[in-house]
Amino acid sequence: MNSKLSCVSGFDRLSRIPLYVPGKPIQEVQRELGLSRIVKLASNENPWGPTEAVKARVASVIAGSEFEGLGLYPVSDGYYLRKRIAERRGVSVDRVVLGNGSSEILEMVAKAAFLDGGSSVIPKHSFAIYGIATQTAGGRVIETRASATELDVDDILRSVVDDTRLVYLGHPNNPTGIRIERSALERLVRQLREDIVLVVDQAYAEYEDPAEYPDAAAYLDERPNLLVLHTFSKIHALAGLRIGYGLGSNELMAYLDRVRSPFNTNHLAQAAAEVSVQDLAFEAFSRQKNAEARQAFSLEAANHRCQLTGTSGNFVLMETALPAADLFKELLQRGVIVRPMQGYGLPNHIRITFGKPEEMRAFWDAAAPILDGGC
Ligand SMILES: Cc1ncc(COP(=O)(O)O)c(C=O)c1O
Repeated sequence: MNSKLSCVSGFDRLSRIPLYVPGKPIQEVQRELGLSRIVKLASNENPWGPTEAVKARVASVIAGSEFEGLGLYPVSDGYYLRKRIAERRGVSVDRVVLGNGSSEILEMVAKAAFLDGGSSVIPKHSFAIYGIATQTAGGRVIETRASATELDVDDILRSVVDDTRLVYLGHPNNPTGIRIERSALERLVRQLREDIVLVVDQAYAEYEDPAEYPDAAAYLDERPNLLVLHTFSKIHALAGLRIGYGLGSNELMAYLDRVRSPFNTNHLAQAAAEVSVQDLAFEAFSRQKNAEARQAFSLEAANHRCQLTGTSGNFVLMETALPAADLFKELLQRGVIVRPMQGYGLPNHIRITFGKPEEMRAFWDAAAPILDGGC
């Protein structure tokens, strides 16, 4: 790093915060390796969408009208989309905030909470942005002991210290694909100190069976310091447009609004999400396809004696004797991109997103010879 720049107060500390490492872009892999076909199973996107109705709505914004077009600023707070979300989730519109992806809301809440410093409690093996958002906002991370197969609410509660401002919970958690039961969620919601914001990240919630899933939004009236996050990047298949939302009390939303950039979500994203949030049939279809992919993958993994972790989300963790970084490279050479998990403290696990059947076939065709008869 440029030595003059690292003299700027704070930059040196910034350079010690881990960087988020995104999945490799398909076109770059294709160019580097001279491959004709790439199968990307690395970023937990939904391969089945977006729907034609969503694309038609985006096209109408591009065509432009008196009220919307690419040359005009979008609705600053995304009122019309927030209204649709509020209807779907059964809350009032002032209890919905939008973000440029739910990652931006993770940054917003950290920015608000760590204005005077403090700490966050994060279960081990959680989504990297929780720690990055905390630290870039000036907070300190306390990691709990959770294992790859278990999230321990009592350990989360025990880890809280005097200056804790935020607790994060992936529900289900990425990359482990596990979630806590209703009773544990209730304990966390009710026993966590009132001056701590509980952030329940439900990015993959729509992949769960709606009849069984303990939705943290059920506790919004009970706990003013609760933020429940959803994204349009996963089951809604709009990762490229960057849009997500948070639900909370109107007091909490008013604080988040103070750290939200004006016009933080764009026209195309707002319009696409307005259509998508109402399309329960597409969600049910995607959930079913995901369940089928998981079942087929489990059978194939058993044939290869591969150990899997996680039953939630649109992905799975697979343990391998070969270091994850090596397996990742070998698969990449064969045109399949997965996510190695060494950065998440899991050096012998890769995370595989469930794609279409032909993509999963391509994964096993590439993986079988490398695994040489077994994980
Ligand atoms: C648990 C979790 N939360 C949030 C996100 C971020 O999603 P977005 O695209 O809305 O920023 C992801 C993306 O992978 C995720 O896995």
